[in-house]
Amino acid sequence: MHVVVNAATSADGKLSSRRREQVVISGEDDFDRVDRLRAESDAVMVGVGTVLADDPHLVLDAGRRRTERRESGRSENPARVVADSRGRTPLDARILDDDALTYLLVTEAAPKERLDDLRAHGATIVVAGDDRVDLSAAFDRLEAEGVDRLMVEGGGELIFSLFEAALVDELSVYVGSKIIGGRDAPTLADGDGFVDEFPALSLESVERIDDGVLLRYSVT
Ligand SMILES: NC(=O)c1ccc[n+]([C@@H]2O[C@H](COP(=O)([O-])OP(=O)(O)OC[C@H]3O[C@@H](n4cnc5c(N)ncnc54)[C@H](OP(=O)(O)O)[C@@H]3O)[C@@H](O)[C@H]2O)c1
Repeated sequence: MHVVVNAATSADGKLSSRRREQVVISGEDDFDRVDRLRAESDAVMVGVGTVLADDPHLVLDAGRRRTERRESGRSENPARVVADSRGRTPLDARILDDDALTYLLVTEAAPKERLDDLRAHGATIVVAGDDRVDLSAAFDRLEAEGVDRLMVEGGGELIFSLFEAALVDELSVYVGSKIIGGRDAPTLADGDGFVDEFPALSLESVERIDDGVLLRYSVT
């Protein structure tokens, strides 16, 4: 499976503020680029921290892209995927509010009744791992379900874990022209951080979009 991480940061590397509420970092042209990336993906993934903070819908914005997907025999929207060890996704979360397929990657530690409720609200449950989602095992399962291209939109905890597990093939970072600051504000890669053997990136392209810059890397 090909895994692309795409996120927007402030010039100082923050994904949002210390309040962990969504901050608009990019502009119209970059939103359109992100929508195109989603349309090219079989599934779009976030961590449950992002679901709780932003309540994203993760469906395509542009009607023409939905039509193109449908006409080429694919689902109108890519599937949605959430890393959610204990099934904390709210039952009224927007990612569960329509017909697009939603996989919740959970663990053995998730309460069974909670999983039944989430299933009743349309979630497809994938159990991988004991305490925290075993991303590698979960991705094997997604691949078996036909997910060949996965786009990961954040947040910082999930992105760090993906680099730690060496599961990332490409990274796109849109760096917007504002400072957010805050030692507790989420950054592109949080988790425990690396102290050595830092994952190395190879810079593929630099492009000005709106009032910021898009950096595209492959992971070596
Ligand atoms: N600027 C952008 O492009 C962008 C994009 C997305 C999000 N954001 C921002 O990022 C913030 C949320 O980021 P976040 O770092 O708090 O949350 P996150 O990365 O979205 O989710 C982290 C949570 O995922 C669950 N998880 C399950 N298995 C995991 C694993 N193997 N590795 C890591 N996490 C795992 C954990 O909760 P459990 O243990 O309960 O499962 C963990 O706390 C929000 O402020 C949001 O606005 C910004």
